[in-house]
Amino acid sequence: MAARKLLLLPGDGIGPEAMAEVDKVLAVLARAGSPFETETALVGGAAYDAHGQAISNDHMALAMDADAVLFGAVGGPKWDSVPYEVRPEAGLLRLRKDMALFANLRPAICYPALADASSLKRELVDGLDILIVRELTGGVYFGSPKEIVDLGEGQKRGVDTQVYETYEIERIARVAFELARTRHGKVTSMEKRNVMKTGVLWNEVVSRVGRDEYRDVRLDHMLADAGGMQLVRSPKQFDVIVTDNLFGDMLSDIAAMLTGSLGMLPSASLGAPDANTGRRRALYEPVHGSAPDIAGRGLANPIAMIASLAMMLRYSFEMTHEAEALERAIAAVLEAGTRTADIMAPGCRQVGTGEMGDAVAARFERLLDA
Ligand code: NAD
Ligand code: IPM
Ligand code: MN
Repeated sequence: MAARKLLLLPGDGIGPEAMAEVDKVLAVLARAGSPFETETALVGGAAYDAHGQAISNDHMALAMDADAVLFGAVGGPKWDSVPYEVRPEAGLLRLRKDMALFANLRPAICYPALADASSLKRELVDGLDILIVRELTGGVYFGSPKEIVDLGEGQKRGVDTQVYETYEIERIARVAFELARTRHGKVTSMEKRNVMKTGVLWNEVVSRVGRDEYRDVRLDHMLADAGGMQLVRSPKQFDVIVTDNLFGDMLSDIAAMLTGSLGMLPSASLGAPDANTGRRRALYEPVHGSAPDIAGRGLANPIAMIASLAMMLRYSFEMTHEAEALERAIAAVLEAGTRTADIMAPGCRQVGTGEMGDAVAARFERLLDA
């Protein structure tokens, strides 16, 4: 089989530090007979420094052409005052939009070994396994107008526009229902129909899709603010949560802390399968950002990045066996008490980014051999 083509976009801050650990896992896969061809390109502040854009057209073309993209993180105080259009985050938003990655899967799994690292009580999070399905190419992130209007006399008006059309809600709802069928058969849809027209439409469309196509899946609705409260009060009540772009952003950061650290949460951003080839564009990235407060010190937890690679094996290459082995390797390393600073606990051994990557890669290799 031809080598699968990966584009690596390390980005800024801890992005490159986490991406370096991906190379170790790819080396294990290559030794096990699953080679990946990798190319590295610039995104975010790194791209801005090199050519004044958050991602260049050439590098964007590489992303469009790759079998999968692995993304680190972008942003940081260094670029706080660059023009809005070319700020580092614009590179990530362009990738999502141009690659049409409308479905963002953000699993929040609490590894047993980390139940005490959560800010919630152990019994609330032990065994937690929820999946947030976030709409990623619509809503207030991309609606127009999006502008600051000068009204004179020192007054300005900032405008963002939340827009959703039926087809956008239908397709993300289907992703959520399909995934629920492979899990515990339950979807909770979150919006704010009490104040937002998009919320009314969201509720109506998700209900119809559920009724017409997924009668076997249980569907509940929750106002998104109450949903945030319930995530912290009693997170294990959820199986799949489907929500819009902005609520999904916030709810997934909340869910991240249930698992112990933002440094643990992976994500997959998927496009629709091509009607002819069945190929779907995909980008895999940790939920966390560039963590400027710890960047450059070898402290970052690379597990979110490595678990994103596991999601890539599963969703882009159907390498379920390898994906599961990699996830088991992460669990085993945590079980053995190896911890980065963000998830450190009494009696455990604290390691840096590189040592954590070494430990996971070594365990992964043993599991693949077994
Ligand atoms: P952040 O996720 O970068 O950091 C939040 C906190 O979590 C920090 O204390 C950080 O040290 C910690 N943290 C995050 N990842 C960690 C890891 N892997 N290991 C250990 N600790 C970790 O969020 P922020 O500080 O709000 O944002 C910083 C920059 O990152 C901003 O420019 C923001 O726009 C950007 N950002 C980028 C992405 C992305 O590239 N996907 C996502 C979120 C934020
Ligand atoms: C995320 C991030 C991004 C978002 C930013 C960096 C554009 O917070 O992926 O969660 O808001 O979607
Ligand atoms: Mn976010």
